[in-house]
Amino acid sequence: MKRKSPQVIAKSLSDKIKNPLFENVVADGPYVNVFLNKEVVSVNTIKTILQAGDNYGTQKIGNGKNIVIDFSSPNIAKPFSMGHLRSTVIGNAIANLVEKCGYNAVKINHLGDWGTQFGKLIAAYKLWGDEKRIKQKTITELLNLYVQFHKEAEHNTSLEEDARLWFRKLEDGDEEAHSLWQWFRDESLQEFSKIYELLDVHFDSYQGEAFYNDKMEGTVNKLKENQLLSISEGAEVVTLEEYAYPPCLITKSDGATLYATRDLTAAIYRKEEYHFEKALYVVGHEQSLHFKQVFSVLEKMGYEWAKGMEHIPFGFILKEGKKMSTRKGKIVLLEEVIIDAIALAKENIENKNPHLENKEDVANMVGIGAIIFHDLKNERQNNVEFSLEDMLRFEGTTGPYVQYTHARACSILKKRNIEENVEEVKGLDDPYSWHVVKSLMEFPTIIEKSYYQSEPSYIAKYLIDLCQDFNKYYSHVKILNDDGQQQNRLSLVKSVTIVIKEGLRLLGLKAPEKM
Ligand code: ARG
Repeated sequence: MKRKSPQVIAKSLSDKIKNPLFENVVADGPYVNVFLNKEVVSVNTIKTILQAGDNYGTQKIGNGKNIVIDFSSPNIAKPFSMGHLRSTVIGNAIANLVEKCGYNAVKINHLGDWGTQFGKLIAAYKLWGDEKRIKQKTITELLNLYVQFHKEAEHNTSLEEDARLWFRKLEDGDEEAHSLWQWFRDESLQEFSKIYELLDVHFDSYQGEAFYNDKMEGTVNKLKENQLLSISEGAEVVTLEEYAYPPCLITKSDGATLYATRDLTAAIYRKEEYHFEKALYVVGHEQSLHFKQVFSVLEKMGYEWAKGMEHIPFGFILKEGKKMSTRKGKIVLLEEVIIDAIALAKENIENKNPHLENKEDVANMVGIGAIIFHDLKNERQNNVEFSLEDMLRFEGTTGPYVQYTHARACSILKKRNIEENVEEVKGLDDPYSWHVVKSLMEFPTIIEKSYYQSEPSYIAKYLIDLCQDFNKYYSHVKILNDDGQQQNRLSLVKSVTIVIKEGLRLLGLKAPEKM
């Protein structure tokens, strides 16, 4: 075969390819053109989807191995920021994709619950704290204490010393320091849980930075054994010249460990605990250098598995082009943003469908879905402009649009009984259904692609395309016409509902049947 011309090979191939899915196979010069048999392909696709149900598109890539996903990871005693929202939403979608591809996702919330700032917080609380107020408005009150500390510390130098002592005590396990810290942590976590409940995001572990406190010495010792530590201005560092990165700080001159030390320790711990094949860190791109340093240090320590670690960065959330974490010193509380979205969704529903049952539930699904979809529809590295009005539109590229299309398809299915006999499905002979079928066929490939690139936006964009194809079909074809084709059209509609619902689930959205 080798010495023959491409034209001859194309011709002989085209004679050999025989497949019921192909209507025609013809050689065209050096190319082979394959024409799909639309009817056979349509029937095959619909049958596959109806039989698989929400398992359609499931892949066996992972074979049950573990992938650890470190995401959300807010800092206690501080507001849950927009950046943490992005990490939560993107991380959760990636976890769903990872599972859809046959892995077991280990979801870890690496809480920022350790560091010298807790010395400051305890010092401030001892001076000005009010237990009742903290119980009522934990994060706001703790933030106030923190701000007050910095203001007073400008002219009262003994405060910094006070804070250092409290952090020392905390590190040494002093009872008072520890119980205050524990209280701040519990109260903060309770506030964060409200957000996780609303978003329906759950974790396998909340072992944050503090958890590694008693394991850090092991890491420092290993670095010493490997002769990787050098002293720089009293601090211990690992130099990373060969990677062209600045040195990674391991301990400060007073012996205190750092963020990177905790991440090194956490990585080693997680490898031992979960035997992961991959470890993903869904954290904003401003921490890229940090993760490059951490991964390189692990490599220098001789850990082969460090190759399976990956930072999944993302851009900022902007409001009118500006970063949105704080507004003139006033914090934007995420919980309030979410509640606003739900209220706006409720308004939309009141206008469109005032007689809908469970309006509250649906408004929840739509409001929250709108926020999630808006975040995920653009490639994660891009910045996202935050606009409640835009994200809640029922038309255009929004979550509500996809949910609405799903509900519309469901309402057709409610009007007629669909016979569940998959064997009876036959071809569809209108031009619009072919576009829908082609879209449906792509779903498994899109899942694979989004998984490999940790890019949920492919799923979001895909859903928009599918919905557009379906809505064209819906407006041009009389689905409920009583001709011999009605059941076939209904099976197509049913397939569409299955794929949209599963696609939305992967992104972290619900698919109400009525809107
Ligand atoms: N708490 C950190 C922050 O808010 C994010 C932690 C990310 N995860 C990690 N393993 N470093 O910036």
